[in-house]
Amino acid sequence: MSHNLLKGKKGIIFGALDEKSIAWKTALRCVEQGAEIVLTNAPIALRMGEINKLAEQCKAPVIPADVTNMDDLKNLFTKSMEHFGGQVDFVLHSVGMSLNVRKGKRYTDLDYDFFHKTLDISALSLHRVLQTAFGLNAISEWGSVVALTYIAAQRVFPDYNDMADAKSLLESITRSFGYQYGIKNKVRINTVSQSPTRTTAGSGVKGFDGFISYAEKMSPLGNASGEQCADYCVTLFSDLTKMVTMQNLFHDGGFSFTGVSAAVVEQMEK
Ligand SMILES: NC(=O)c1ccc[n+]([C@@H]2O[C@H](COP(=O)([O-])OP(=O)(O)OC[C@H]3O[C@@H](n4cnc5c(N)ncnc54)[C@H](O)[C@@H]3O)[C@@H](O)[C@H]2O)c1
Repeated sequence: MSHNLLKGKKGIIFGALDEKSIAWKTALRCVEQGAEIVLTNAPIALRMGEINKLAEQCKAPVIPADVTNMDDLKNLFTKSMEHFGGQVDFVLHSVGMSLNVRKGKRYTDLDYDFFHKTLDISALSLHRVLQTAFGLNAISEWGSVVALTYIAAQRVFPDYNDMADAKSLLESITRSFGYQYGIKNKVRINTVSQSPTRTTAGSGVKGFDGFISYAEKMSPLGNASGEQCADYCVTLFSDLTKMVTMQNLFHDGGFSFTGVSAAVVEQMEK
């Protein structure tokens, strides 16, 4: 159902890989709510070709950009502004990758080249995106940037591995840049800390099935779905949340503030 919450707004969506991606679902919701969007992903991900289906549905151009490459990001913002005929109102950063997770390295035996890549792709990339936009004055006043994160930034989830450190850094950059961009241009920057969700990135984490059903049992409302995450992002891009910035916002059915649930106690007593 459309309330035209994003009517007249223009946004860039990073990270739609396939139909399961949180970014994919968010792109659809943004367009449903009246926004115009540009889609972007790493050139290697675009080769899969899946994104063209989404681009067609959203009537959106696809502009390749590796988030670790400053020239790519500059080109992305410049071309997006040309396409829109002006500044961008919102940005979704829905990007994450760890080669240590992918290759099954333990946290106590990390490969440091991989670790650098994890930090660059999953955390510094937000700084790169923001610094590029800041330099080009590419985001409009009261614009909104949302990056996706996970509660492993605050609490230990052993198999989340070096992604936990990347998410802590991502959330810190959100606060630090949120201050600077707020002062400069009233641009707001927040992270959404999402429930475990079955996507390509999510399913790469060891023991993901156990993880997802534990979270489901622990959360009074159950796990938040990708579609519900997309809805939440829409509210953050809308004018209804203008004074929210520099926050890490839990979108997890209550998981983050539940000590233990009756369902988990019952399971332990078995
Ligand atoms: N799935 C979950 O359980 C979950 C929970 C909380 C937070 N998140 C976060 O949500 C975000 C989106 O992940 P998802 O679960 O939708 O999985 P996904 O695999 O669909 O999306 C990850 C995206 O990152 C992109 N990417 C990787 N390297 C890149 C690079 N160098 N340049 C540009 N893009 C690159 C991939 O191509 C992909 O589109 C990530 O930040 C993830 O950590 C996911």
